[in-house]
Amino acid sequence: MRAARLEPWVDAAGNVFGGLGMRAFDTARPAVLTGSHIDTVPEGGILDGALGVLAGLEALAVLRETQTPHGRPLAVAAWSDEEGRYDSLFGSRAFCGKLDVERLSEMAAADGERLVDAMARAGFDALRAPEAQAAPGAVAAYVELHIEQGPRLEEAGIPLGVVEAIVGVRCTRVMFIGQADHAGTTPMERRRDGFLAAAEFALKARDLVVKRGSARSVTNFGVVSVHPGVSNIVPARGELVHEMREPDPDVLDRLARECAVLARRVARRRQVRVELQPMSATTPAPCAPRVQAVIEAAAGGLGLASQRLYSAAGHDAQNLAAITEAGMIFIPSKGGRSHRVDEMSDWDAIERGANVLLQTLIALAR
Ligand code: HGY
Ligand code: MN
Ligand code: MN
Repeated sequence: MRAARLEPWVDAAGNVFGGLGMRAFDTARPAVLTGSHIDTVPEGGILDGALGVLAGLEALAVLRETQTPHGRPLAVAAWSDEEGRYDSLFGSRAFCGKLDVERLSEMAAADGERLVDAMARAGFDALRAPEAQAAPGAVAAYVELHIEQGPRLEEAGIPLGVVEAIVGVRCTRVMFIGQADHAGTTPMERRRDGFLAAAEFALKARDLVVKRGSARSVTNFGVVSVHPGVSNIVPARGELVHEMREPDPDVLDRLARECAVLARRVARRRQVRVELQPMSATTPAPCAPRVQAVIEAAAGGLGLASQRLYSAAGHDAQNLAAITEAGMIFIPSKGGRSHRVDEMSDWDAIERGANVLLQTLIALAR
């Protein structure tokens, strides 16, 4: 950001900003904001997040170099912990006043590392993250460039996506607590196996979400752990992180209630206990019609076709939608691949996305 002659600053939640015509947010001069995240999932690709930060940085650098007039100040953000190692969309939650402040001291990664310790190592006091909240009216509009992370644009042969709405994501830790026993001497009918209860719940919860959810409801069990976790002890505990996604918050709430009933039924039948711990939940968000229209006009101005679509991936834009007019630009992902090392898009698709972002920012900052 310094090399691009932008004004860099870092807020209390670890969000990094580069300003053009601004050194901080000022409600007297509402800013046009772009950006995305630079953290990735484990074994992730090079574009998820980084594309939006670097294209935003490049767009602001071009505006400065060409001395393009812009009535509003602009900034590019690199939001912290978007992937939710500690809490999903952490940095943009803090900026938009959506942090669960009471839980800050206990937020921890699946491997147990606490947020407070990780932030202290980087020189931050996690309990002060809420100070990152932007004053109402500080942001005039937000637009984020991101890879689609799915196959729709590529299969439709459409170069650009204009996001209409972003999914809500809900994570719950589900712990089935049975009894450790000797794996050889304990008769099968006497075992209270925490792992088998978790396995039965996972398979049945997946069917419940597919059958009882909407066409857009999806679910996943990406974190599984067994305790004590050695082969010659009947598992005392089987733990899952149960993730569900759905654009309609009422459907998401109903599915969560039905899965809780299912978990208790499985536990009873297998004579184990079950504990459910909500971990994180993001709010589904519509994108602003005005920003969608500006993106479409920018694409059209560059002779590019675009298609409106829904995002089944979560994004920082869904938090920004709570405090300003927010929108997203998607470019096609090769083979729809993402959250894997071979995530990639064509370089000319990347250039098209960056140019539509630049034209969108010019229009929004006019
Ligand atoms: O998981 C998601 O949807 C996003 O990549 N954080
Ligand atoms: Mn991601
Ligand atoms: Mn992302």
